[in-house]
Amino acid sequence: MVFPAPGRRLAGDELLEAYPWPDEGRWVRAMMVTTLDGAAAGPDGLSGSISSPVDGDVFTAVRRSADAVLVGAGTLRAEEYGPMRAAEPDAERRSAAGQAPAPRLAIVSGSLDLPWSLPVWADSALTPLVLTGPSPDADALATAREHAEVLTLADLEPATLLAALTDRGLRRIVCEGGPSLLEAVVAAGLLDEADITLAPVFAGTAQTPRTDGLTEVARLDLVHLLTAEGYVMARYVRPGHR
Ligand SMILES: NC(=O)c1ccc[n+]([C@@H]2O[C@H](COP(=O)([O-])OP(=O)(O)OC[C@H]3O[C@@H](n4cnc5c(N)ncnc54)[C@H](OP(=O)(O)O)[C@@H]3O)[C@@H](O)[C@H]2O)c1
Repeated sequence: MVFPAPGRRLAGDELLEAYPWPDEGRWVRAMMVTTLDGAAAGPDGLSGSISSPVDGDVFTAVRRSADAVLVGAGTLRAEEYGPMRAAEPDAERRSAAGQAPAPRLAIVSGSLDLPWSLPVWADSALTPLVLTGPSPDADALATAREHAEVLTLADLEPATLLAALTDRGLRRIVCEGGPSLLEAVVAAGLLDEADITLAPVFAGTAQTPRTDGLTEVARLDLVHLLTAEGYVMARYVRPGHR
């Protein structure tokens, strides 16, 4: 287990190395921030209000070598994602490693009710993918195709979603939520790693809508804990995969 010296904040390539991807095969990691009382967003409904620059550093480090950033439509509707790009040195490093110059954003949506005015569609280095079900609304599909590459899949089960990504060579997959999509991936037994930041705040969860939850808890092994400014950045992996 890795614990940096107290007070030493990992940054840059050190942080990249602290969040490695396997050389081969699909690897699915969750990247989420949570409060002390288990909220996934602050009172404004956004995760930014419970995050911090130190958490942002980890978020960025994990994206730097990812092939795909997978999110549920609810997250895109709430969070207004910015364009998916990579800094020039990262784009060069990625190209040398046989990767696309930047991660590809992949959004899961049955409704195709997505925020089409966001610059994320036109200004990302790679056109985002939208993963939808077998019989989408025709008008919504036509709109989606103006902005994204749309994959109409047999269903939106996590195994189908992840297979669609790996079929396109996208094997290093970071799932940035939200809680509904992440729960589905965990329930399907397809999560390899969870990079979870604990924010030193309470946000209130009494009103948080919840699903039926998992039928069994899913346990992971702790690999490291980084701490800075009261935040705890934990890296967990599937048992036996450290
Ligand atoms: N704390 C964090 O790190 C973090 C990270 C991300 C998001 N968030 C917060 O979480 C909230 C959004 O999360 P959420 O749970 O409501 O939404 P979500 O998981 O991002 O998206 C749920 C949507 O994904 C689509 N979907 C399709 N197939 C699915 C499947 N198999 N499983 C789950 N979703 C599927 C559906 O879209 P359609 O309705 O279009 O069919 C569904 O409504 C926001 O408040 C956001 O700020 C927090």
